[in-house]
Amino acid sequence: MNQKKRKQIPLFDIKISSQTKREVAEVLTSGWLTSGPKVQAFEKGVARLLRVKHVAAVSSCTVGLHLTLGAIGIQPGRFGPVKEVITTPFTFAATVEAIIQAGAKPVFADINPRTLNIDPDEVARKVSKRTIAVIPVDIAGYPANYRILNKICEAHSLLLIADAAHSIGATYHKRTIPNLCDAAVTSFYSTKNLTCGEGGMVLSRHKKLVDRVRLMARHGLTTGTFERKAKKSVLYDAVIGGYKGNMSDLHAAVGLGQLKLFKKNQETRTLLAERYISNLQPLSEFIELPIIEKGYQHGWHLFIIKLCLSKLKISREKFLALMASRGIECGVHYQPVFALSWYHKSFGLSPQHFPNAAYAGRRVVSLPLYPSLKKTEVDFVCENITDIIKKNRR
Ligand SMILES: Cc1ncc(COP(=O)(O)O)c(C=O)c1O
Repeated sequence: MNQKKRKQIPLFDIKISSQTKREVAEVLTSGWLTSGPKVQAFEKGVARLLRVKHVAAVSSCTVGLHLTLGAIGIQPGRFGPVKEVITTPFTFAATVEAIIQAGAKPVFADINPRTLNIDPDEVARKVSKRTIAVIPVDIAGYPANYRILNKICEAHSLLLIADAAHSIGATYHKRTIPNLCDAAVTSFYSTKNLTCGEGGMVLSRHKKLVDRVRLMARHGLTTGTFERKAKKSVLYDAVIGGYKGNMSDLHAAVGLGQLKLFKKNQETRTLLAERYISNLQPLSEFIELPIIEKGYQHGWHLFIIKLCLSKLKISREKFLALMASRGIECGVHYQPVFALSWYHKSFGLSPQHFPNAAYAGRRVVSLPLYPSLKKTEVDFVCENITDIIKKNRR
């Protein structure tokens, strides 16, 4: 391969549309920067897109998860036994952090090695008298097994709260994630399929839950600044202890602009993912590709391959370094939380307790995936993977 003409392909590349720039300019000109009309319009737009009745925009998915757990009755330092929330160890630290911040104990259930999502059989084994909720994560945008998880939650009167940070574009039998659980929390972080720069949203069919999240996100106050100005009413009450978790109009304006492109961007992501799959199929002895079962629509936030390490002479780290040396930036989603020192120490977690997550954590590689990625760039990534595998197969 000619090293001089080498391309540089980043893992993520975010393009901000001209519509987005106009939306942001409008906010800056208006002088109203905090929660106001743009947040309201963005909430409406996302609610329509995902066909959900009740939504509350918040400052991040992490805050949204924390407040949702607060809204269902978990409180830090609350008298009585600590409530437990079952989740996956194969996730970003934020999922677990939100459970701890809310005042509950995270209890981990191993994953299905094929989908990388929480294994419902493991969830059922971890339910105790103290369990209050289950938080699956739709890894890469592939929906967790909501059909079985709902059955377990119904049988034990638990709430099912989706960490839908990756899965805004996903469906199961045409139902969006918030319609498959009690509440879903999305992320609008910079690299996500729909971005505000930073932000999140709680989406649910339960009005009371969403109203409580909204209240908690503005310090437990009966009204926010924008409502007080609109109603010409200065005074307010704090009816519960709250937090600071509102989304600003500046962030919502970015989201509103990007929302216009969302469907088209999802189509492009799907086409690119299909191209990866067809290009990499001949390497199936060395690489496991994402699976898509009947009825599932993948949200394609990430394209994760799993290296078959026993068939290769190199480690995942060496593979990443070889890809980087060819100008291709790859990622790792995720190092399981038990591999992170603070979580490992604080919860006494050991990889032996989660063999599937431990194995996945050693072999997953995320390939570049974003709407501005060209088909020829996908082909270039695949040619390089093929070449590396050919030179390093056992
Ligand atoms: C699975 C998962 N959950 C939660 C989060 C946290 O999202 P945010 O940055 O919006 O708080 C992320 C962010 O990348 C994530 O990947």
